[in-house]
Amino acid sequence: MMHITVAGTGYVGLVTGVCLAEVGHIVTCVDPIQEKIELLHKNISPIYEPRLDGLIRKNAEAKKLFFTCDYKKAYANADIIIIGVGTPENEDGSANLTFLYTVAREIAQSVEKDCLVVIKSTVPIGTNDKMEAFMQKNVVNDVKIEVASNPEFLSQGTAVHDTMHASRIVIGIESDRAKQTLMEMYEPFQQPIISMNRRSAEMVKYASNDFLALKISFVNDIANLCEVVGANIDDVTNGMSYDSRIGNKFLQAGIGYGGSCFPKDTKALHWLSEEEGYVLRTVKAAIEVNEKQKFKLMKKARKEFASFAGLKVAVLGVTFKAGTDDLREAPSIPNVRLLLNEGANVHLYDPIGAANFKKIFPTQVTYESTIEEAIENADICFIFTEWKKIKDFPLSLFREKMASPYIYDGRNCYSLAEAQKADIFYRSIGRPAVNHVSEKETVEI
Ligand code: UGA
Repeated sequence: MMHITVAGTGYVGLVTGVCLAEVGHIVTCVDPIQEKIELLHKNISPIYEPRLDGLIRKNAEAKKLFFTCDYKKAYANADIIIIGVGTPENEDGSANLTFLYTVAREIAQSVEKDCLVVIKSTVPIGTNDKMEAFMQKNVVNDVKIEVASNPEFLSQGTAVHDTMHASRIVIGIESDRAKQTLMEMYEPFQQPIISMNRRSAEMVKYASNDFLALKISFVNDIANLCEVVGANIDDVTNGMSYDSRIGNKFLQAGIGYGGSCFPKDTKALHWLSEEEGYVLRTVKAAIEVNEKQKFKLMKKARKEFASFAGLKVAVLGVTFKAGTDDLREAPSIPNVRLLLNEGANVHLYDPIGAANFKKIFPTQVTYESTIEEAIENADICFIFTEWKKIKDFPLSLFREKMASPYIYDGRNCYSLAEAQKADIFYRSIGRPAVNHVSEKETVEI
């Protein structure tokens, strides 16, 4: 059992802290935002993540998990301090390390015994070295602070499962002592530990995320070509997936990747490499494909609708993927903005993300609590997220409820056979067009 302090109660920090308590460590989570700590004291997670509330309650009641704004006390005698604060994107695409350096300064002012600072936040290559030098320079007491890199690979929506059953734990260390400390902390998880130097560990994180982003952009590029040449991306990716070298994951075509990680980490690595005088052409291409892909549905809809002014437009799903209430870099946002700017009456449904969407568009959009209400009398329907509730929705109801059943599906939620049976006008990504009976004369795209 070790005494661990975690800085940051977002997806990375909070989930890590809770899971480390669950396997037996004594964990204190620190965050400067009082409202978050107050919620956590009531065993309520400030982020939507399955299983998290229950584990917070269980471990807080067992006196293994604590929450505080008082960083001085929390850092003073910790064996390990894990940093899981955000590293958002600067205007130019580089990583913003303000939160990280704030925490580093606080640690240097507070630690009263030697400790290992573990950086989980995604940071540009070389940041761990700089952080160690910065803390050693600013440390107040006569103690040694060593830094280790330990990138995080959890996904939102499955974060607890991903942490408890991680495919691997990557540690970037510069001493045996740091390695031993991290091996002891992770011992209860019984997961493969891969150790390397700090710069390589920092790079593993970017390379993994950027590879997955590239895989998605590649599939979207092929999907766009499928539309042009009359192939079906579902069949193509299915055919590819049986090759174990390709695999069947991250082959889903759609309106592009969003979220707090892929958009930011592709741009950050691209920026970093350019700074070093190297152009990372593959990552650059992934970014460019994704930028265009976001507006793929609008481009399609323009063929049937010269303008959206005065039309009732149903929007189903707004989060960047299913299973989360997060809207960061969600393709829905620029699309809804475009619809509103053109004078559309937007009626929106999302099972979890509507409350957050309301913070961005408080009054301009009508928020509906069911799919039926959103599509009632609508002229067009756009689908931006593959929520199960949306995928399970009977297609015949689009035909029944909408004024005209024009469906533009950015996540390929329905099979073409179903769409044909339901007699709707249906456009998706990388698949042949389906026209409803009264539209049969429409030219196939
Ligand atoms: C991603 C990585 O998957 C995690 O391993 C990583 O730890 C995390 O970023 C991070 O850096 O913190 P996450 O952003 O939660 O996790 O979401 P993903 O499930 O990877 O999805 C990202 C985006 O790609 C979503 O918008 C999703 O709709 C899109 N996507 C995913 C596709 O368009 N097609 C696919 O086949 C898969």
